[in-house]
Amino acid sequence: MRFLAILSIVVAAAYAKSYDGYKLYRVHPTSEGQVDLLKKINDDRKIDFWSSLRFSGKPIDVMVEPATQSLFTSFLNMNGIAHEIVIDNIERIVKQEKMQQLLAPRSSRGSISFNKFHRFDEINAYLDTLAAQYPDLVQLETIGNSYEGRELKVIQISTNRAASKPAIFIDAGIHAREWLAPAQALYIIKELVENVENRRLLEKVDWHILPVMNPDGYEYTHTDERFWRKTRSQQDGCVGTDGNRNFGYHWGEIGASSWSCDDTFMGPSPFSEKETISVRDYILNRQREIKLYLTFHSYGNYLLYPWGFTSDLPYDDSELRGLAENVNAAIVEAGGDSYEIGTSTNVLYAAAGGSDDWAKGVAGIELSYTIELPAGRFGGFNPSPTEISGHVQQTFEGVVVYGEYIANKFA
Ligand code: ARG
Ligand code: ZN
Repeated sequence: MRFLAILSIVVAAAYAKSYDGYKLYRVHPTSEGQVDLLKKINDDRKIDFWSSLRFSGKPIDVMVEPATQSLFTSFLNMNGIAHEIVIDNIERIVKQEKMQQLLAPRSSRGSISFNKFHRFDEINAYLDTLAAQYPDLVQLETIGNSYEGRELKVIQISTNRAASKPAIFIDAGIHAREWLAPAQALYIIKELVENVENRRLLEKVDWHILPVMNPDGYEYTHTDERFWRKTRSQQDGCVGTDGNRNFGYHWGEIGASSWSCDDTFMGPSPFSEKETISVRDYILNRQREIKLYLTFHSYGNYLLYPWGFTSDLPYDDSELRGLAENVNAAIVEAGGDSYEIGTSTNVLYAAAGGSDDWAKGVAGIELSYTIELPAGRFGGFNPSPTEISGHVQQTFEGVVVYGEYIANKFA
């Protein structure tokens, strides 16, 4: 009975966009030249590359719409590029996820769980509850509104606000479809606030966390189009800007599109988006305190640091790398998969206008990282809801290492 009731909800709650017949291919290029060929057919709507388009020895995942599949596979065959199908019908995975979301035990309003991906209003209700329950520890600050008017709420966790301790700023969800990222931020919030065993992490450091940086996009991926990435601002032509190409440092120089219909659209100008402006101004107002910037994305298990606009290494490469190695060791120790570590350009791809580059290059926050969280077990963007809690716990152990490092270095 419950099953049937849920089934009918799933049908009624179907997304506006169907991925029926879309497939996820895993492609195995064996040379730079083959990757260059793949770059030529990159087209976000028809042939959507989900992993980085570079030759690394790792396979490349790509979602292809039904009408383009035969062309796509003949192109691969013609060029001798090995490939297989990992997900035969993406719509099935999307529906299955929706079903698991509905089957997850309901959490009461104002509380949060890690067996489902929460909607934006549930996340805000949780933040409000924390602020009410821990007035001496938690303060919320609305740092601006999204394009559609949703509040961007930063939770500030501090045992003594007057002390202006060194601070860590964390954001997540600049890319809408990467649902594990906000979940990770929420888990960090929960551990820091609700678990008294973690109070030592607050002794010498303040934490400022924005769990959903792109709420319009986030909600849109829950209601309309599961694999939407950008903001929802109306552009000249299409909708949305890639927030992580919109920051004003070497903006638009490389790895970003000037066509508004592309997934990596840089925006009409740097900081054209309300969401990136809000984060910029919040950080600039606390430039002296903030010592570490973390931005959560998914997926791929990468610990990235600047630069993303050049292959040159930052002057403090060895410190950035060393810290990332310790973070990775803690995650692996907790049972997580190992991360690949390096500058964005050198281990992933060159892409300018990222928040991490801006934080280091303009705001002067020398320790700046993009964390690409793990993929789902069967590939693709998200672990199933049942896999969330394992991942967020493991990654939290890495965040602890970051916290201790900042405490030791700056206090
Ligand atoms: N997957 C992320 C993106 O494409 C990686 C960003 C890395 N940082 C950078 N500045 N390119 O936005
Ligand atoms: Zn991302």
